[in-house]
Amino acid sequence: MKKILMIAMITIIALTVTVGLFAGGQKDSASDSGAKKLAVGIILPTKDEPRWIQDEARFREALEKAGYSVEILFSQGDSARERANVEALVAKGIEVLIMTPQDGAAAGAAAEYAANAGVKVISYDRLITNTNAVDYYVTFDSFSVGKAFGQYLVDNAKGSGNNLYLYAGAASDNNAFIFFDGAWSILQPKIADGTFVIQNSSEAIALSAKKDLSRAELGKIIGQVTTNWDFNFAKNLAEANLTAASAAAKGEVFIAAPNDGTARAIADAFSADSDVAKYYVTGQDAEKASVQYIIDGKQSMTVFKDVRTLVSDAISAAVTYLEGNTPKATGSYDNGSKKVPAMQTEVITVTSDNVKSVLIDSGYYDAGDFTGL
Ligand code: BGC
Repeated sequence: MKKILMIAMITIIALTVTVGLFAGGQKDSASDSGAKKLAVGIILPTKDEPRWIQDEARFREALEKAGYSVEILFSQGDSARERANVEALVAKGIEVLIMTPQDGAAAGAAAEYAANAGVKVISYDRLITNTNAVDYYVTFDSFSVGKAFGQYLVDNAKGSGNNLYLYAGAASDNNAFIFFDGAWSILQPKIADGTFVIQNSSEAIALSAKKDLSRAELGKIIGQVTTNWDFNFAKNLAEANLTAASAAAKGEVFIAAPNDGTARAIADAFSADSDVAKYYVTGQDAEKASVQYIIDGKQSMTVFKDVRTLVSDAISAAVTYLEGNTPKATGSYDNGSKKVPAMQTEVITVTSDNVKSVLIDSGYYDAGDFTGL
């Protein structure tokens, strides 16, 4: 027993020495790739959505290019696992944490744990809410993402009485509110003037005379049309909406879907309904599967969020912190406890007209990954 304890002690000491080397700019003794360990940890919400696999790949690509290695952990949709990931990285001596919270509010305590250990916390894409323990936020212009959904549907609707189906992201994600708010800012006047008729949300109908919705009002609609960012949930909800709708509420339909994964699930449900003659459906993330859907005419648009920019903003903010400085901000986001300095990136609407120039010719994706281009 004593011997085992001794071995355990020696292992802990050896680990501590290794962790001691785990500092900015130091050579990583454990790596033979020649990469230096950066005292940064990255936590992403789930491997189950291509969006976050994209971010992981782009982080690895950028870090490799810069000659750094860092640890990237996934929370698999579980705030408890996210907290354990934070604790593990803090124990390894990180000085900066880059994290996309699974649930913005639930992540507050984990962020505080890191901050109490002297770690700088960068919120990546999703805001950690209701805590002071977030130092910086790198984000896309999420309001514009939502506006792009609305604008696409408005541009394609003719006359009046067009059937509109609304869907939203998870209520635990601050972005879901911003996307919906952006879409509503464009759609609401067109609902009020009769261009669109909402077919799947009594809460949205009840609020349809109001352009500026409070968070609580947005929450009421989102509560009714949330996909929880889950493909199966989205498909079931769309099917339930279609079952409840009359044939007259189908025909040509306009669907505000909150992201690519849910857009494909919702599109599949609508295309399987024989009363649906034609549908327009939005999305975001430019996931490869949705790029193929756009080429095939099964998804109408996506909003391209160039993850490389977000990754590079996050890495340069982290390096700035490691150097003892404060990264530049272009604005701020109120997280309920403080105004978090933020760096915001623009987004691009992609349809079949520009899919090749924006995503292939630009080198973002290889043409060989798609058919029928
Ligand atoms: C991100 C989207 C993503 C969604 C679901 C949002 O916070 O901004 O890009 O599709 O989460 O993971």
